[in-house]
Amino acid sequence: MQTLEATAKMMVADGKGLLAIDESTGTCNKRFAKWAIPQTAESHRLYRELIVNTPGLGESISGAILYDETIRQEMDDKTPFAKALAARGILPGIKVDLGAKEMAAFPGEKVTEGLDGLRTRLAEYVQMGARFAKWRAVFSMGDGTPSHGCVEANAHALARYAGLCQEAGLVPVVEPEVLMEGDHTLDVCSEVTERVLRTVFREIYAQRVKLEGMILKPNMVLSGVDSPHQGSIEAVADATVGCLLRSVPAAVPGVVFLSGGQSGKLASARLNAMNVRYKLRLPWELSFSFGRAIQEPALEIWHGKQANVIPAQEALYHRARCDAAARRGEYTAAVEAAHRESAAHHMATNVYVGSAQ
Ligand code: G3H
Repeated sequence: MQTLEATAKMMVADGKGLLAIDESTGTCNKRFAKWAIPQTAESHRLYRELIVNTPGLGESISGAILYDETIRQEMDDKTPFAKALAARGILPGIKVDLGAKEMAAFPGEKVTEGLDGLRTRLAEYVQMGARFAKWRAVFSMGDGTPSHGCVEANAHALARYAGLCQEAGLVPVVEPEVLMEGDHTLDVCSEVTERVLRTVFREIYAQRVKLEGMILKPNMVLSGVDSPHQGSIEAVADATVGCLLRSVPAAVPGVVFLSGGQSGKLASARLNAMNVRYKLRLPWELSFSFGRAIQEPALEIWHGKQANVIPAQEALYHRARCDAAARRGEYTAAVEAAHRESAAHHMATNVYVGSAQ
């Protein structure tokens, strides 16, 4: 337990957060297809090498979540990815669920699979150097959804996964995601998120998971993307923190948000507002575990071309630093601009090209 607690604390160390680069093959290919980047295992490897080789990434990123394909791959210099991350001061993590699948008898809803054989898979990931793991459950917003049955089934699976992780010495990142799709209001998202989180923590307790040795990765409380009433940054911050305070035990060391399709700047601004308004009153660290909100500008710039590696790394470094500032409650439009300029200077003086092409 002491190791788990120490690892969890490192994951939410002051001024740092997690980077999710654990897109499954299908999701990664979908993102690559948008920019006509070849959809091959080698292309995935080159892109992840670009990310891991971004100079100074460890200043803002405490841990990175890998996908099974990546943790089995090597950098150009033959170092396995998990070791390369550790060498850069970044804790290696691994996505261990096998995806959200259609749930029998619950049309339109999904249940995340992957518990069978998980103990064996976790032992292998530990051998490969993983220090923490991630499991994502999704909840769709609609008429009558998420249903009681869907919430219960996913919460139970999350808790079973978390228990197996702790047994293996891995910190479980527990990710129940209430999706942004829909036209629901901020209040409805808050009610549903609270119901989901209360159920998850009831199951976490039932499965004897140690709260001190886990991290929660929830959605921010947001209006649905199709809602005409998008809340202000402050309203989102108030709704999200209020919901978390009502449902997340104080013994959990950290809450790290997914970005869920928000733009990089909005995700930074909303996380910042939460820390500005509440940091001194919160029992847990409030940080980030963004995927798209950190990666999107870099992927667009890279476009699969070697010539674009350095500008892509610059964009990644910039977004990661903005999120680190937000995590401290120090993100402003001026910081966004200043970090952009200093990122250019940083890259000019700290180049590592790798071979992403
Ligand atoms: O499971 C989802 C990822 O870990 C976070 O990705 O920030 O793009 O939603 P996202």
